[in-house]
Amino acid sequence: MDLFHRRTPESRSRTRLLMVAGAAIATVAATITAATTAHAGTTLGSAAAEKGRYFGAAVAANKLSDSQYAGILDREFNTITPENEMKWDATEPSQNQFRYPGADQIVSHAQAHGMKVRGHTLLWHSQQPGWAQNLSGSALRSAMVNHVTQVATHFKGKIYAWDVANEAFADGASGARRDSNLQRTGNDWIEVAFRTARAADPGAKLCYNDYNTDGINAKSTGIYNMVRDFKSRGVPIDCVGFQSHLGTSMPGDYQANLQRFADLGVDVQITELDIEQGSNQANLYGSVTKACLAVSRCTGITVWGIRDSDSWRTGQNPLLFDNSGNKKAAYTAVLNALNAGGTTPPPSTTAPPSTTPPPSGSGCTASLSLQSWAGGFVANVRVTAGSTAINGWTVRITLPSGTVITGTWNAQASGSTGTVTFRNVDYNGQLGAGGSTDFGFQGTGVGPSGTPACTVG
Ligand code: G3I
Repeated sequence: MDLFHRRTPESRSRTRLLMVAGAAIATVAATITAATTAHAGTTLGSAAAEKGRYFGAAVAANKLSDSQYAGILDREFNTITPENEMKWDATEPSQNQFRYPGADQIVSHAQAHGMKVRGHTLLWHSQQPGWAQNLSGSALRSAMVNHVTQVATHFKGKIYAWDVANEAFADGASGARRDSNLQRTGNDWIEVAFRTARAADPGAKLCYNDYNTDGINAKSTGIYNMVRDFKSRGVPIDCVGFQSHLGTSMPGDYQANLQRFADLGVDVQITELDIEQGSNQANLYGSVTKACLAVSRCTGITVWGIRDSDSWRTGQNPLLFDNSGNKKAAYTAVLNALNAGGTTPPPSTTAPPSTTPPPSGSGCTASLSLQSWAGGFVANVRVTAGSTAINGWTVRITLPSGTVITGTWNAQASGSTGTVTFRNVDYNGQLGAGGSTDFGFQGTGVGPSGTPACTVG
């Protein structure tokens, strides 16, 4: 006999109660599951986005036609760094002749897939074209300013963050700048580069990027002191990149190091993460991810390649996907860390703040900041509307005798010597009340001084 079907009224009522209770439990369980899955990203990019961060990869343009490579990129990542295509040797192989085939291809791919782009890198002692390696002094300084201006202008509005200067500090105990042709043009080359990049693309975050800075050491402290100095003097720096090319261990003060930079008022980013394969690889990947999540101004992580076979560290298998594109244990460790709770929310992403207070009257005002060296200068001019909106501006600047303007950005200049009139271009003439915009120019000779005259129209 089937006992299950021999049911008394009491047993039927008990069964109904159990069913109702079971249904209620199932509903609660379903709700909990739904709540959990709603906040658990299933890819690196979506899981990072749940925490207000990005997760990116370095990409080579010539691999975008590899469907396995592009498939992983588009599925997992929401930020791209061109691995080599934006470097000086790639973008300006002959002086003042710019070309962007690979870089444009990568930027287009990113835009088509809703990804951000980290620009890498405007200035570096390595991977310079031969002609730049052979320059020095004011000729190199002018070429450097021109390069930053042209490249940042070409990609204006398309770059989330630029590595403006890369690897400019020496390894070891000195905490000093690395010797290079750029450094020999004068210690101010980095701040000139940052001001120039800001003038060319005011919407991009501007970063300093370096390696062997993954804990508190002499090199990272040298950079820390530079960033603190830049912040105190109003040099426009927004972020610091920590490359994090790690071996089989990581410094115990990795997170503390990120935090001390963040406390200076800059974002921090892990920019070139790769970790040597070994028994500890997955744990280390998880720890780096947790460290970023624990620092509210750590805005994202980029790994330096997709599959192990794509890595510059041949034979070390340092990435998140194996040679066949399979997810490794390191991938799971990162995803789990991203999906774990208890993180500090990231800062809101806002445009870099203006440091010029709006004037009280109507009309407009202009202020000039100058970076000079023997034989040349770069000038940045901030135009600020008064208490009413304006629809066009004109700035007049008188140059010292013998000074010649060799390039202007974000404005139309009437000439190159004597008193020069700068008018707005089509995208920066309209300013709301108190709003401001920047333009700039570079030249040979002595830079102008004083407060420029600004008129509306
Ligand atoms: O494209 C040419 C190819 O035509 C030629 O046949 C071949 C012969 O050597 O070279 C190819 O160019 C190589 C390029 O990578 C593209 O594969 C260069 O030789 C090689 O030097 C270059 O290496 C790059 C390296 O920077 C240069 O220093 C790596 O891909 C790139 O991953 C690496 O990235 C740097 C970051 O920019 C800064 N931080 C360190 C990081 C790792 O070194």
